[in-house]
Amino acid sequence: MTYDESGIIDAIERLARTDVAALTQDQLDGVDQFHAGGPEAVDRLVPALRLGPGTTLLDVGSGFGGPARQIARATGCDVVGVDITAAYVEAARELTAHAGLDARVRFHHTRLSGLPLTGFDAAVTLHVQMNVADKRAFYADIAARLRPGARLAVHEVCRAGDARPPLPLPWSLDGSDSFLATPDELRRDIAAAGFDLVEWTDDTSWAADWFSALGRRLSAAPAPLTLPALLADGPTRMLNYAIALTDGTLTLHRGTFTAS
Ligand SMILES: C[S@@+](CC[C@H](N)C(=O)[O-])C[C@H]1O[C@@H](n2cnc3c(N)ncnc32)[C@H](O)[C@@H]1O
Repeated sequence: MTYDESGIIDAIERLARTDVAALTQDQLDGVDQFHAGGPEAVDRLVPALRLGPGTTLLDVGSGFGGPARQIARATGCDVVGVDITAAYVEAARELTAHAGLDARVRFHHTRLSGLPLTGFDAAVTLHVQMNVADKRAFYADIAARLRPGARLAVHEVCRAGDARPPLPLPWSLDGSDSFLATPDELRRDIAAAGFDLVEWTDDTSWAADWFSALGRRLSAAPAPLTLPALLADGPTRMLNYAIALTDGTLTLHRGTFTAS
């Protein structure tokens, strides 16, 4: 099992040598966004979601809750996150309470099929479907919880061709839980699940540049609190991912869809 860290808040406080309540947004951004592109990637998704105060967003595979909190702050919407990893949901709830957003941003420890809520105005999912074998069923579960015309924004990793990246990777330690599709296969699966395509953009070179800038920033001023430091085998996983985006083995695609 890849996502088996526990005691996330304690680990963050140990790395930062301070209480989570004392962390700045910049420090949190470095550790609570579990995808390439950090908060900048979330900023690229927000306009397509068409959210504002009084609207509702579903975040599938919400991790430590960084994207959910960022979108709630940026748009004023309410967010429901679901995730299958209990320790991540616990950390997301605690970080959200510290941010004073717990009235508007909630997290459930469940598969989406176990969530009894529907009628969301939008959904987002970042770096999750690589762990999902039946992608069509995964996106159909999302479609079933949206109102007609709702937006779905995705930020997802695909394989460019037949080559597979070396392990471990951020989403898989041993490969047994990695199910990489090509961008065309993924786009077709999302459409077949009940969505109309609005935009499908190859963000691979943008993400590779983001990793390079991050590397330069960290070598100029090493930060103790980073996502690789928090994760088991984190530096190797991130490095393998960044190299695979740069050498053409992996792609990163950003998509917007409308629930039909
Ligand atoms: C790479 S992390 C991304 C987390 C978050 N979306 C972010 O970008 O910060 C992948 C997350 O997806 C969750 N996950 C994997 N498969 C899932 C599924 N079928 N349903 C819900 N969550 C899932 C994992 O527990 C993990 O928190």
